[in-house]
Amino acid sequence: MLACPHCALALTLTDTGAACANRHMFDRGRGGYLNLLVGGRLGPTVTAGDTPDALVARRRFLTAGHYAPIARMLAAAVGSPPGPVLDVGCGEGYYLSQLAAGEHYGLDVSKAAVQMAARAFPATQFVVGTAYRLPVLDHAAGAVISVFAPHPFAEFARVLRPDGWWVTVTPGPGHLQEMRPQPTGQAAHKTRERLQRRADPPPEAAHAVRVQYLLDLPAEAARDLFLMTPIRWQAGARVDGPATVTVDVWVASTRAW
Ligand SMILES: C[S@@+](CC[C@H](N)C(=O)[O-])C[C@H]1O[C@@H](n2cnc3c(N)ncnc32)[C@H](O)[C@@H]1O
Ligand SMILES: [Zn+2]
Repeated sequence: MLACPHCALALTLTDTGAACANRHMFDRGRGGYLNLLVGGRLGPTVTAGDTPDALVARRRFLTAGHYAPIARMLAAAVGSPPGPVLDVGCGEGYYLSQLAAGEHYGLDVSKAAVQMAARAFPATQFVVGTAYRLPVLDHAAGAVISVFAPHPFAEFARVLRPDGWWVTVTPGPGHLQEMRPQPTGQAAHKTRERLQRRADPPPEAAHAVRVQYLLDLPAEAARDLFLMTPIRWQAGARVDGPATVTVDVWVASTRAW
């Protein structure tokens, strides 16, 4: 499944690390993860969601089950793929942990996220790497998933088996609308355009289901949700006390389920 990030040959995994036939070697970090990020970050990889407090908030919010309906629809869409599942932008591993058992790989550009994932889910192989040049062999994955994370579809097509499929989770127009600051002037126009684009699932998808519900959150959970999303970096964004928020996402795939 995994490919050497230097020469693209297959990686052989051992207890202590991984190596290719050209003797490029990678040691395992604590928890067993592999760092396959070489030559610096490629593409727009630095997201505000990477900070340690965001990771802790996300772990607490997700394990409390507030996004369980999303995880269930994702699991239904993934189904029983014809090979390993790769989660691109896996964060601290929650969504992979909610799929039916199988061979799972999680990849994220954030080393802190991958370290946290590897410690929590030892049966899954986690790697530090970039979505834009996946350290994965051609046509090796049965399914590629991306949840609120980058989804370069050409790269997904390269690593997917011909009989495999991808599944994305992306925000719909109403997602967390109660938490967003109301933009004014030029910013308001841009925001309307972005929300308009979210009215549809990714055009590359063959099938999509919209998951919508209201979440009644106690103050601590509302605070966690705010901290784990990029909304926290928008000017004027704030959350105080308990909140009712709209969840509105697209679960989309190259396959109908
Ligand atoms: C909003 S978080 C979602 C995390 C997780 N999928 C979840 O929903 O809990 C986006 C994730 O994408 C990762 N990411 C951003 N750019 C990336 C890239 N170029 N390659 C791989 N991961 C990336 C971030 O580090 C972050 O963990
Ligand atoms: Zn190599």
